[in-house]
Amino acid sequence: MGSRHSRFFHAFSAGLAACLFAAPVLFFAHLLVARDSKGDLPYKFFPNDFGPPSVDVSHYPPEIKNDYRLFLRKCSVCHTVARPLNAQFLQLNKEQVEKLQRKHPNLAQTSLDIVMPDPEAWARIIKRMAAKPGASISPEEGKKILKFLVYDSKVRKTGKNLRKWETQRRKLLARFKRLYPKMYNFLQDIGEL
Ligand code: HEC
Repeated sequence: MGSRHSRFFHAFSAGLAACLFAAPVLFFAHLLVARDSKGDLPYKFFPNDFGPPSVDVSHYPPEIKNDYRLFLRKCSVCHTVARPLNAQFLQLNKEQVEKLQRKHPNLAQTSLDIVMPDPEAWARIIKRMAAKPGASISPEEGKKILKFLVYDSKVRKTGKNLRKWETQRRKLLARFKRLYPKMYNFLQDIGEL
């Protein structure tokens, strides 16, 4: 009886210590994030954050599977990997972009929030993320992460999977708009949706 009580007390004081430690950490983390936002909202979050936080890579080539593991480690430090995995970005070369636009004129021209094909799409994002304070992504690691993101978005956002992707992303956007209309409008205003 007595030992159960002291075990409870031990767990309680460990919890209390964790809270005391976490409070200032969370406070400073909040300031860091706040500095990143451009408007009156305290911090940004994205519809992508509410989508699946992993992808089935069982049919991907072994090398891409390794790049995926690196991506999981490096790109989950400040937000979950749901943010890149559910994003509209699709990096294709110029001919591939033109081909996609010819095949799906509506999707590629009017629904950039569903799929945004661009020859530099992921390269730009990775460069921007690697430059943020707190990121530790070497140029070599950046290249591997880029290989995974280019491969993965091509598999999931083109060809026979394009419609499936479109349905999934439209649902994500609609739900976000319903739950967080203020953030939705804010992201649209600053051109990030
Ligand atoms: C040091 C913290 C940090 C790390 C590490 C990080 N991110 Fe981010 N990421 C952010 C912040 C903050 C934002 C929101 C502000 C912005 O868009 O710059 C963001 C936003 C994003 C967005 C949404 C951008 C948009 O314009 O829609 C994507 C996609 C993204 N990150 C992908 C990644 C990928 C891929 C990696 C790994 C290579 C990564 N992030 C690593 C902090 C980080």
